[in-house]
Amino acid sequence: RHQQQQNGPLAGKSVLVTAGPTHEPLDPVRYLANRSSGKQGYAIAAALADLGATVTLVSGPTTLRAPADVTYVACETACQMLECVKSAAPFDAAVCTAAVADWRPEVQAGQKIKKISRDDVPAPIRLVANPDILAEISAPGPQRPALVVGFAAETEKVEAHATAKRQRKGCDWIVANDVSAGTGIMGGDRNQVVLITAQGSERWPHMPKEEVAQRLASRMADWFTET
Ligand code: CTP
Ligand code: CA
Repeated sequence: RHQQQQNGPLAGKSVLVTAGPTHEPLDPVRYLANRSSGKQGYAIAAALADLGATVTLVSGPTTLRAPADVTYVACETACQMLECVKSAAPFDAAVCTAAVADWRPEVQAGQKIKKISRDDVPAPIRLVANPDILAEISAPGPQRPALVVGFAAETEKVEAHATAKRQRKGCDWIVANDVSAGTGIMGGDRNQVVLITAQGSERWPHMPKEEVAQRLASRMADWFTET
């Protein structure tokens, strides 16, 4: 396997993968989070390593085991995820699959917020914006990876929203999927995605998340070969 990796089409390339949710603490025992199993991101990290890439997987909390042959960096919040990404930069390519919480509680209570009586509710939670990790990675500059891939989990108008997102974030490709209730994609083992590039969009068949990962990794390898 190692021999195969050393001769793989991504040998010598460093690739960042972000994965999982982030947890944004309210107090020591409670947090805000997105739904994310991390399965698609971990599969992508493994597929890139199989093609010989030097992979750094920066992951929020999941129940998954880190794939073999990747550098695994665990984090909890969006701010920590950004710090971990910056510390490990630069990269030749980045794939941002993490379901980063868009906002975090403005204040994190140092002690558990107590329910004094049965009907007691706490004061409204004020939220502040989290950093946008994909947008920061995509920003022009000497450290920008040559190829930046974002994900877009949408519940409606998948292609339109994802095409707009590609522009807004400044990334090169977007992998979009429909995560609305009933598709079984969220938390499931299969995925159905649309790859959006500057050239247009391409609908991939419904397939296991491992196959989506292999197909994306080989597309990335082709891109480096052609460039
Ligand atoms: N992303 C990120 N940091 C954030 C928010 C999102 O890196 N703070 C990345 C995700 O990893 C994904 C892409 O941006 O690759 C799109 O995330 P998404 O939540 O779909 O986009 P948003 O711009 O946050 O738009 P919205 O949640 O309103 O759909
Ligand atoms: Ca978001």
